[in-house]
Amino acid sequence: MQTATADEFADALTQLLTPIAEKDVQMKIGVPGETTPGERRVALVPETVARLTKAGHSLHVTAGAGDASGFPDPAFTEAGADVSSDASAIISSSEILIYVQSPGESAISAATSGAVLVALLDARTDPKGLQHLASAGLTGLAMELVPRIARAQRMDVLSSQASIAGYKSALIGANMLGKYLPMMMTAAGTVPPATVLVLGAGVAGLQAIATAKRLGSIVEAYDVRPVVKEQVESLGGIFIELPDAADAEAAGGYAREQTEEEQAAQRQLLADHVATADIVITTAAIPGRPAPKLVTADMVARMAAGSVIVDLAAETGGNCELTKAGEVVLTDNGVSIDGPVNVPSMVPNDASRLYSRNVAALLDLLLDDEGNVNLDFEDEILGAMCVTHNGEVRFKG
Ligand code: NAI
Repeated sequence: MQTATADEFADALTQLLTPIAEKDVQMKIGVPGETTPGERRVALVPETVARLTKAGHSLHVTAGAGDASGFPDPAFTEAGADVSSDASAIISSSEILIYVQSPGESAISAATSGAVLVALLDARTDPKGLQHLASAGLTGLAMELVPRIARAQRMDVLSSQASIAGYKSALIGANMLGKYLPMMMTAAGTVPPATVLVLGAGVAGLQAIATAKRLGSIVEAYDVRPVVKEQVESLGGIFIELPDAADAEAAGGYAREQTEEEQAAQRQLLADHVATADIVITTAAIPGRPAPKLVTADMVARMAAGSVIVDLAAETGGNCELTKAGEVVLTDNGVSIDGPVNVPSMVPNDASRLYSRNVAALLDLLLDDEGNVNLDFEDEILGAMCVTHNGEVRFKG
């Protein structure tokens, strides 16, 4: 039997007793802060920074990066990050760069070739951005491309952020409506509950339904995927059904685009419901396609003065014909149509916390036990998310 020498034994003992935080630095991870106008989220929050520094990574955060989301610099310092005002130095020296949104061409070219950049990269709609990443020699991991499989749920940014958007859309609608949402029995008489109609009952829609229901309104909902009926009803919503409709569920649980005929039937079904709703919240989407037009100008013309439409699909063209992204349109008949953009960023604290946890789960997969990047393209998740590598665009659309 081989026995360890006294020196080997002492070395092993030292390694065992060395606190994890004092291990040699594994990866240099940078959070340079967001550059997109109006973006209030931060890519990593102190809770995640503490976890990563404990695992031996060195974290570098630009001063003020978390200010807009309620995570001040001292919280990052306390979590073990190096906070500095020199964003350029962080960009050029980090091995892994974490953003919420792509930082744009100049930051991309300033990063070190071979570094990994993690962000929402709009891969489906921004081929130029992918080209910049490839030209700079960066490995781009697009957070919006996390596949919808059980193993990837912890990394699913689309779900974490859509859920926040759905919640906020109900609050936006409630705020804009000059009415109570719940039924009120007062000494001055009874006030009936408001009716909220939610179109598209995916992640955002279901959260809008839950929130509007908690606020006491009557909630109706419609989706082209009949599978959501049960989910809507379990939240106390009334599911509007199109008789004889074909199931429109496509790969990955998403909806497919509707035919002209299907769209006509859908509009006929929805017209009366839109006309009588106090608030219409629309969340319908087809990945990589313009938002389906569900609410026509004619339908809006039949709505009562003071009613409200909150169109969460504004950024991809809107579910309502009259929506203007980033604006509130007031129609001649007194209907307000809000087309808010980047709604998750309106709840920046929790949106950042959840995004950050999604990224941490991705890093768990990306980094091996020694803390090295292990880009296994055979892995269903990494293979789908990696849009650029070794100077080439891998994303095929
Ligand atoms: P999404 O944002 O692409 O679409 C939102 C909703 O709009 C969907 O429910 C879709 O059916 C609906 N829609 C599309 N066209 C419509 C139309 N013409 N009229 C009415 N509604 C229309 O989808 P989202 O919310 O990101 O996810 C959709 C589904 O994907 C989830 O409900 C779930 O089944 C599945 N999913 C699976 C996950 C997993 O397994 N890890 C994670 C998240 C979602």
